[in-house]
Amino acid sequence: MSETPDQRNEAANPQWGGRFAAGPSVVMQEINASIGFDRKLWRQDIRGSLAHAAMLAKVGVIGPQDEQTIRAGLAAIGHEIETGRFPFDAALEDIHMNIEVRLTDRIGEAGRRLHTGRSRNDQVATDFRLWVRDAIDGLTAQIADVMRALADRAGTYAADPMPGFTHLQTAQPVTFGHHLLAYVEMLDRDRGRLADCRRRLNQCPLGSAALAGTSFPIDRAMTAKALGFDRPTANSLDAVSDRDFALEFLGAAAISAMHLSRFAEEIVIWLSAPWRFIRLSDAFTTGSSIMPQKRNPDAAELVRAKTGRVTGALVALLTVMKGLPLAYAKDMQEDKEPVFDAAEAWALSLAAIAGMVRDMTPDTARMREFAGSGFATATDLADWLVRVLELPFRDAHHVTGRLVAMAEAKGVDLAGLPLAEMQAEEKRITAEVFTVLTVEASVASRTSLGGTAPANVAREAARWREALA
Ligand code: ARG
Repeated sequence: MSETPDQRNEAANPQWGGRFAAGPSVVMQEINASIGFDRKLWRQDIRGSLAHAAMLAKVGVIGPQDEQTIRAGLAAIGHEIETGRFPFDAALEDIHMNIEVRLTDRIGEAGRRLHTGRSRNDQVATDFRLWVRDAIDGLTAQIADVMRALADRAGTYAADPMPGFTHLQTAQPVTFGHHLLAYVEMLDRDRGRLADCRRRLNQCPLGSAALAGTSFPIDRAMTAKALGFDRPTANSLDAVSDRDFALEFLGAAAISAMHLSRFAEEIVIWLSAPWRFIRLSDAFTTGSSIMPQKRNPDAAELVRAKTGRVTGALVALLTVMKGLPLAYAKDMQEDKEPVFDAAEAWALSLAAIAGMVRDMTPDTARMREFAGSGFATATDLADWLVRVLELPFRDAHHVTGRLVAMAEAKGVDLAGLPLAEMQAEEKRITAEVFTVLTVEASVASRTSLGGTAPANVAREAARWREALA
């Protein structure tokens, strides 16, 4: 932080020294410089410059010798950055000028020809798209890894009943495998959102220059291809000034972080002492400095909490962008930190969830015990009345409700009600009804497409494992 905001830098920025006699105030430099965070774009910036120089040489704007010198200089700079020897300078604002000035320091005049027919505006738009694209590829692989971990365990626990909830009240038994596969579906859509984002993002802004295009005979298809884009962007104003690709990425991130947060919350619940549905090893829990008995699910809690950052990043960038007239405005420099931060939080959350899924030991006996509590098979009873006695469902619901009240008053579960007492409520009930009141019968009966029957779950787990192999 600057302690003396009225101080000035002596020298004008060498990139626009012609127009400027003196340097910016210290506070101007401090608010203006982005090198503290956009140095993360260095690989993309070098890739973009290599593609641009090769294209300039091919169309004859620079000579082949200049291109070779630029190529060698950029390679050397890449090496300097990689090995921590690059002299980053806040007076040069951002990664683009840091690299360009360094290039000129190293190779002289050829370096000063590189910026022909381009601007930092199309340069940063290109670099940032490349960075987000790389992040998408990494995150997509990580999501697949979590899905794989979940599908593996879902296969193992395809037939193990647990209580299924609505309102966090016991609803109907489901299998643990079914529950885990629900998250596989969510994560698959998260992956799909990234793929959609990538498809729309994959156009190259390079050559849009500051905002209007350029008078040089550039070959935009060539640079687009060299950088792995599907095509060049079609409108130079749009290309340098929209950040919807970053917003889509953050939208996908926010939705996925929300999914991970719900799963993390379930881990927290399952792990808490009154539940004890799962255990996590020492690898994914922490102790308490005062309470010796504690084993806390900090990783799950932090995954739950990271959602705040990720959602905040989306809101932050939407807010930055919403009032900007075309084309570029410096406001857009504030696009990067939210994206970097959200990508990091998302990646870390995925890694933590993958770790916990592989680490957790479910207590299947305990899950089974609670799967039958809370009259969880009441719907099975009502369905039996419909199927066997042909009662209208509403009537069956009513009869079952009275039987539940009866059982509750006696302190037994539905299977514990004597047949005679059931018959007092509906005289045609027979002993056959008891066959549908077990947890196993309940889950086995849910054979409808997408239902929790163990056979369904085993099939789905196998399908996912194969798809993800
Ligand atoms: N550091 C700038 C950014 O991130 C690069 C573009 C600067 N363009 C300009 N016209 N000042 O947005």
